[in-house]
Amino acid sequence: MEFAAVTGDKIKPGFSFEPSASPWKVTARAAAMIESDIQNENLAKARAVLKSLDLKAKDSAEVLRPVSGHNSSILLPCEGADGQPYLLKYFVPPTESRFYPPGVKVEDYARREGAFYRFLDSTDPGRVLLPAPRTILIDPVDPPRWILLEWINQAVGPAEEVLGMDHVFELISKLQSFSLEMFFGRRDFPLNHWSVVSYLERVRMMYDPVLKVIGDKRWRQSLEFFEEAMRWIETQEPTLVHGDFTEQNILIDEDGRPFLLDFERIGFGNKDHDIAWLWIHSERPQTWKKSLMQRFFANRYGSDRIKAEWGIRSALVYLATRRLRFGVLMHGEKDAAAARNLGLLDAALVGGMDLFPA
Ligand SMILES: Nc1ncnc2c1ncn2[C@@H]1O[C@H](COP(=O)(O)OP(=O)(O)OP(=O)(O)O)[C@@H](O)[C@H]1O
Ligand SMILES: [Mg+2]
Repeated sequence: MEFAAVTGDKIKPGFSFEPSASPWKVTARAAAMIESDIQNENLAKARAVLKSLDLKAKDSAEVLRPVSGHNSSILLPCEGADGQPYLLKYFVPPTESRFYPPGVKVEDYARREGAFYRFLDSTDPGRVLLPAPRTILIDPVDPPRWILLEWINQAVGPAEEVLGMDHVFELISKLQSFSLEMFFGRRDFPLNHWSVVSYLERVRMMYDPVLKVIGDKRWRQSLEFFEEAMRWIETQEPTLVHGDFTEQNILIDEDGRPFLLDFERIGFGNKDHDIAWLWIHSERPQTWKKSLMQRFFANRYGSDRIKAEWGIRSALVYLATRRLRFGVLMHGEKDAAAARNLGLLDAALVGGMDLFPA
C-alpha cells in the first residue's frame, strides 16, 4: 500500500494535505509506525517548548483534538505560573508522506500565520478591527515553529446554536475592511493569491492527474470558464481573503463574540472566496445553506449579482478540481467522492438556478 494512503485517508474535505505522488512504497504497518514515531517526536518537541517558556500543560491537554490526527499542528492548552490560560500551536513539520496542492511551499503555512499575527500586533493590537486571539509570543525563527496565543473560552453548545449567520457576515466584512496597501512591502509575508488568475494557474498545474477523470471536454470548458470569469471580475478590487474560512476556524466565545482563527492560508484576491468556501464546506442542513446564500445575495442586484456569482463559481471550480486531483492521487479510479466532486464541478461551470436556487 502506498504510504500516503495510510497517512492521509482521514482527511476531511477541504483539508490542505493531499496524498503523495511519491513512488516509494512501504507496508501499512511500517508506515503507521513511522507516523506514530513522528507524532510522538513532535509532541515531545511541543512539550519542550512549553517547558522552555515556563508553562504548564493543562490536564485537558488533548481535549482540543487527538494529537495523532493528521493535522498541520499540535495544539496544547497550557497555563502560566499565575494560572493564566494559553494555547500553544506547534506547527508540525511536513513529512514526506504528505503532499500539498500544486505550487505550495509547505513552510509558508507557518510563515504566513506568524506574519499575519505580527501584522495584527502592529496594526490592531487590541483586535478591534479583526477579532482574533491575541498573540503572546511568536517563535522568532523563520519559519516560526510555534505561536503562543491567548486562550479563548468557547461557548458551550452545538455549533448550529452557537455560530450564526451574523457571525459569518460580520467576520467577512471585518476582514474586507483592511486596506491591502497595509500588507504590501512587508517582507517575509508570503500572502496567498486567491484571484481568478491564480485559480487558473493552479488548475493548469493539475492537468496530468485530473484529465482522465474530468475528460477533455470538461477540461476545455474549465479553461474557457476562467477566461470568461476574468472578464467579469477583473475590475473588482481584490480584498483580504482568509483562505480557509470554515466553521472550524471560527470560534464563538462565552459572550457570543466571534473570533477568527488559523491564518495559514491568508492572502488576497476574489472577495467572494471566503463565503464560497464556508458554504461548500458547511455540513449544515441544505435549508440553512440556502438561506445563507439568500442573505448573501439579498442586496446584490444587476451586475453586482452577476459578478458575485462568477466569484463564487470560480472558487468552486478551483475547489472541485483540487478535490478531484486529490481523489485520483489517493484512490486512483476508485475515488468514492469523484461523482460528487464532478457534480460540483459541473454545477459551478454551468451556474444558474441549479447552483443558486432563488
Ligand atoms: N486561541 C484559541 N483558544 C481556544 N481554542 C482555540 C484557539 N485557537 C484554536 N483553537 C481551537 O483549535 C482548533 C484548531 O486550531 P487551528 O485551526 O488554528 O489549527 P490548525 O492546525 O490549523 O487546524 P486544522 O489543520 O485542523 O485547520 C480550532 O478549530 C479551535 O477549536
Ligand atoms: Mg483550523
